Amino acid sequence: MSVKTRTIHSVFGSYRVVFDEQLKSLQPYFEDVNAAFMVDEKVFRLYPELCRKIEPGRLILVKANEGNKSYHAITKLYERLTAFKAKRNLTLIGIGGGIIQDISGFIASTLYRGINWIYCPTTLLAQADSCIGAKTSLNFGKYKNLIGTFFPPDQVILSTAFLSTLSKKDFYSGMGEIVKLFLIDGKDSVDYFISIIRKEDYHYRSNIFPLILKSLEIKKEFIEKDEFDKGIRNILNFGHCIGHAIESISNYRIPHGQAVTLGIIWANIVSVNKGFLTAQTEEFLFQTILADTFTLTKELAAIRPDLIVNAMKKDKKREGAGLAIILMKENFEFIKILDLTETEIHESYHKFLRKFDFPSNQAR
Ligand SMILES: NC(=O)c1ccc[n+]([C@@H]2O[C@H](COP(=O)([O-])OP(=O)(O)OC[C@H]3O[C@@H](n4cnc5c(N)ncnc54)[C@H](O)[C@@H]3O)[C@@H](O)[C@H]2O)c1
Ligand SMILES: [Zn+2]
Repeated sequence: MSVKTRTIHSVFGSYRVVFDEQLKSLQPYFEDVNAAFMVDEKVFRLYPELCRKIEPGRLILVKANEGNKSYHAITKLYERLTAFKAKRNLTLIGIGGGIIQDISGFIASTLYRGINWIYCPTTLLAQADSCIGAKTSLNFGKYKNLIGTFFPPDQVILSTAFLSTLSKKDFYSGMGEIVKLFLIDGKDSVDYFISIIRKEDYHYRSNIFPLILKSLEIKKEFIEKDEFDKGIRNILNFGHCIGHAIESISNYRIPHGQAVTLGIIWANIVSVNKGFLTAQTEEFLFQTILADTFTLTKELAAIRPDLIVNAMKKDKKREGAGLAIILMKENFEFIKILDLTETEIHESYHKFLRKFDFPSNQAR
């Protein structure tokens, strides 16, 4: 593999993503008494050879669930870490998916007002999307990602070898964010995506590396221009306005990236209804890159337009009286609309379900 690193520029200082299949860059930390490892329990079980290298006293196992990504649940993790002799010179290494990223990143950003933090993403979603961008989040009560900080890792160490054990559901969750990134980058990227998935058997994860690399390059452009999400970075939320609502009403049975795929499909239907996108382009994008990346059709039964509207009203990024949504135009330009009406959600709902041959009466 010729590509070794990518540098991300941040107002907090630049950091590197190191593409390191054998995880050799972790070696110095195995030997460093001032390094603590926070590892997803499942990853720990699946990768015994890697985890055997971590001294038991410096290992903290965490179950990756949304309940553990909460202010209350992490207090015991602070207790473990404050027992270390190392204080501000402590290095925390998170190994896991987005949940471990958020927990270890939030703790690293707050403990002693900031300690060294290395992140090793093990899911496709984390590798292709969340590992850069410097956002850390915790859930608060029933609100997801309500508490958080901006805090980049000192380094991201990325090995696609982890993806071999990922479940189909989590693999496609990552594909949802990848598809979103290629769409917002415009026609050339969409054509590139289509050429790759036609040539390669992407269902079985071969040749995923170019998709991860390109996704990170696309995201890098947005976050370097607008690190604090005040303007253009908003576009990264394409598919998320309805997607977050779907995720929450499915009680997280539809994982984040799969909900984003549905959010994009639904948003494109709204775009057609508003005259921003032709029905041909909407159908083309559905058939070529969106339909295959959603695999949980049975879960569509949970989706009702009234529940979607209620959940969208609670979105933390909502401004103004209407519903907010990011929509795609025919020329791959994106606009944020703040006055989407409840009627427009209801009107697009049946068309959305019909895309999956899912009868809308079954969703009642
Ligand atoms: N901070 C950010 O910028 C950001 C961005 C997007 C999402 N997120 C957060 O990330 C979380 C979702 O991330 P995720 O999809 O990576 O989920 P996750 O961390 O919950 O992992 C999903 C599942 O995969 C398992 N897993 C992890 N690595 C594995 C591997 N190599 N092999 C087999 N199983 C493995 C986990 O144990 C878990 O069961 C959400 O909480 C979301 O809010 C954060
Ligand atoms: Zn997302």
